[in-house]
Amino acid sequence: MRLLILNGPNLNMLGIREPDIYGHESYADLCRAIEGYCRQAGTDFEIFQSNSEGDLVTKIQEAYGHFDGIVINPAAYTHTSVAILDALKAVGLPAVEVHLSDVQSREEFRRFSYVSLYAEKTVTGKGFAGYEEAIRYLVSGRLK
Ligand code: DQA
Repeated sequence: MRLLILNGPNLNMLGIREPDIYGHESYADLCRAIEGYCRQAGTDFEIFQSNSEGDLVTKIQEAYGHFDGIVINPAAYTHTSVAILDALKAVGLPAVEVHLSDVQSREEFRRFSYVSLYAEKTVTGKGFAGYEEAIRYLVSGRLK
């Protein structure tokens, strides 16, 4: 099994950006944690981060035929991107949406997610552990 882990804009600024919301750990720390979760779950993986919507769309398209599932934190594109939703629909791979923060309890505009219209599961407000839940779901639950 091979999972694609996608992270959207500004997640590369973890540790610097709004630490009261996103914590003090860096993006490198997140990648190390994801690596550990994937190893424990026994799955191959690739992690990709981009600040560009088009790059994320292209990466999702390229996953077709090469990956078995997608874990995606679309970051701000969650709330705006029909293009990312359409790319997920186009490739048809099982996908889980992750948000570090509890988007439902923040500003009104964060409550709607285009990606949720496709994702089988959404995990919010659990910090790095949300990625673990998503990976475990795809490896041992959904794709057993
Ligand atoms: C986020 C929540 C989004 O609303 C925000 O734009 C982000 C990060 C999260 O992980 O909590 O950049 O996806």
